[in-house]
Parts: sequence; structure tokens; C-alpha cells
Amino acid sequence: MPCLEVRGGTPLAGSVPVEGAKNAALPTLAATLLTDEPVHLRRIPPLRDVDVMLAMIERLGKGVERSEHTLDVVSRGVLREEADDDLVQRMRASFLVLAPIVARRGRALIPLPGGCTIGPRPVDLHLDGLSALGARVRRLDGAVEVTTDGLRAASLTLRYPSVGATEQLLMAASLARGQTVIGNAAKEPEVLDLARLLRAMGAEIEFAEDRFVVHGVDRLHGATHEVIPDRIEAATYLCAAAATGGAVEVAGVCPDHMAGVLDVLTACGARIATGESSVTAEFADRPRGATLETGPYPAVPTDLQPPLGATLSIAQGMSIVSDVVFPERYGYAQELSRLGADLTISHSRLEIRGVEKLRGVPVVARDLRGGAALVIAGLAATGTTTVSGVEHIDRGYTRLADKLRHLGGRIERIESA
Ligand code: UD1
Repeated sequence: MPCLEVRGGTPLAGSVPVEGAKNAALPTLAATLLTDEPVHLRRIPPLRDVDVMLAMIERLGKGVERSEHTLDVVSRGVLREEADDDLVQRMRASFLVLAPIVARRGRALIPLPGGCTIGPRPVDLHLDGLSALGARVRRLDGAVEVTTDGLRAASLTLRYPSVGATEQLLMAASLARGQTVIGNAAKEPEVLDLARLLRAMGAEIEFAEDRFVVHGVDRLHGATHEVIPDRIEAATYLCAAAATGGAVEVAGVCPDHMAGVLDVLTACGARIATGESSVTAEFADRPRGATLETGPYPAVPTDLQPPLGATLSIAQGMSIVSDVVFPERYGYAQELSRLGADLTISHSRLEIRGVEKLRGVPVVARDLRGGAALVIAGLAATGTTTVSGVEHIDRGYTRLADKLRHLGGRIERIESA
């Protein structure tokens, strides 16, 4: 298995290009199942999670032609009803194929995604929403069968603005009869990006405040779409700049999408400069401690809680980090403390007493963003930090070591460790 060997202590400096957003690319790929016509997708990041979603849609009847960042998705036969394999277990986002299959075939059989290392992740909002749209949901052992004689519109309000449930319901409502209203909807940029693709495919979707109104159509057609930049990848590099006292520009981003995290970095002492499609964060000193709480967009994204936690572990003073979206997402804290960080989990929040120095030791990444946090800590630490579990990091970061080296970080990927 590969590992990353990080020799810390060098402030990062320079500019780094940002890929297309993983969390926009994945629902976009699921949405290609809504039509038999070709869909041309641009700025698809080369990532392990994207490979899993591609395998999923290929098994369901799609053919994919891929160059590094561009995909042509075409139909190779009838859309299959049954996603009867392990791909949903490997990646929760592949559950998003459910709505397209049900909407087009009237029946879908799909495994239920399990819990994961960041805590329990139910799908009740997805299934209740589909029921409201006229589907019958039958829970089987470890799977779910959803059938319908034809989806019909409904007015529904989500108990929580779930990203995945909103995406699932937008796809279902696009092909349902009548006008669907989805209230208390997620409004993450990735959700709006999916709505943009669906509109390009012929869907009639309006969005205002926290509400989608969808006028169902009989069929959707092919389209061309470019996914938005990855705000999580971008902010991860800014956190690495903060932890090393450096100055980093992320290029090819939408600065507006990053407001929540930029506020935190500013509170930590960053000088932030935004261009039309770039953000630079410069730190003259160790970051200052901060208090932050994750939440639905535009609050600080839960996906950035671990990278920010790593940064704050070497901050001056005390920090309090509350992840209210996934209150168990502190698994990386134990590994951080092996590097010398001083953290306590108490009442579902992380209390961090900043230390001046971390010391490199071997650590293990157990999930994607927790893995990024350990790399950031390694860049800030003295000595050598060896991060194993790199397969988690590969799910969501394209050429992480190359990009960090380009910024002056001393990091090597060792393939045969
Ligand atoms: C997506 C992102 C993930 C991010 C998360 C929150 C993708 C592929 N993944 O995940 O990176 O961390 O949004 O921004 O886009 N919930 C329920 N019932 C449901 C669904 C969710 O109770 O049916 C709860 C979850 O347990 C969690 C919260 O809602 O506490 C947020 O989950 P959700 O927004 O659905 O996240 P995902 O779409 O799974």
C-alpha cells in the first residue's frame, strides 16, 4: 500500500490549480442516467470516487469515453434496474443512482449504504422524499426496493437540508408529473450545479432562498456541462498555508463559494486577497486560535473541519471546533495527538490547546478529510511524518503530493510501502 512521507517545517508558497469538485461530479454522473442521449462533462477530477461512480453507471448500462478531465457518457443498452453489487458499500454517493432508475424504469433495487468512519449516515430523507413523490419503498435485508407506477409531484419540506436527499429529489422531481416543491433544501454550490445540469438537460427548475420548485417534464435530453471548482480541495491548500506560516494562491476557484472558511482563516490572522477566480491566503505568523461550527452552506463545511482542526492544533491559544453536521467526525484527533497535538473531545466538540510544535511520527488516515488533516499536520511538524491509509486520501485529492511539492512542501508518495 502507498504512503506519504512528509518532512515538515517549510512554509508553503506559490500558486496551485484546483480541480473540478468531487461532490459536484458525482451527482452529475448519476444524472446522466436520466437520459439515453449523450452527456458531455468537463472538469471531471481524476479521483478514486469518480472511478467508483463511473463503474456504477457503466454496470447500469452506460458507456464512458474519458480523457483526463473530460467525459462522454453514452447509452449502451437498456438502463438496468438493479444495482446489485458492492459499489454502494464502497461509496455512499453511488446511492444517488436510485432516483434516476426509479424515475425511468419504475423500479429499482439497490443496497443500503452502511455507516462509515465519520459516523452514522442514514438515507431516510431520500426514501421519505421518494415516497412523497408516489414511490413505494420496501426495505429488504441490507437493500431497498423502490417501485412506482409513475412519480407525481408533491410539496415537501426536508427535516434537515441534506445534500444527498435534495439531489436525489431534484432528479426524481424532474421526471415526475406536476409541480414539486422541495422546502428546507440544501443549497450547497454542488446542489445548484446539479440543478444547472438538469436544466441543460431540459428540466424546469427554479430556486429561491431554500426552496426548489420543479415542473416535471416527460423526458430529459443530452447536454454539455462543466462542473464547478472544488472549494474543499482549494481550502485544504489554504489550511496547509496556515499551518506552515506560508502564502498560497488557489487558482481556478469561485471565491464566493469559500466565504465561510475564509472568515475562519481571517479570524486566524490570514491576509486574504480574492481575485475573480483565485484566493490567496498569507500568514506572517502561527495562526491564532478560533472558534468554529460547521453547518449547511454557507456555514463552514463539515468536510473542512478536519483540515481546520489540524491547522488549529499549532495555533496560538485555544480553539473550539463543533461539527454539528457529523458530530462523530473527530476520528483524526487521536492520530493528531500522536504528533503532539493537545486535543480533547467533550460534548461533541473538539477543544484544541494550540502547541508550538508537532513532531513527526507514523500515523494512519482512516477517512478522506481526516487523511488530509494528517498531511497538513505533517507539513507543520518537525521531523518526518509517514501517513498510511493513502487510499482514503486518493478518494478526493488529485495528485496531492505533487501539488504540495510544487508549493515547496517536502512530501513524497512511496508506492511500495
Ligand atoms: C454530502 C457530501 C459530503 C459532505 C456532506 C455534508 C457528497 C458526495 N458528499 O454528503 O462530503 O460532508 O454532504 O455537507 O456530496 N441525514 C439524515 N438522513 C438522510 C440524509 C442525511 O439524517 O436521509 C443527515 C446526516 O446523518 C448528516 C446530515 O444529514 O448528519 C448531512 O448529511 P447530507 O447533507 O445528506 O450529506 P451527504 O449528502 O451524505
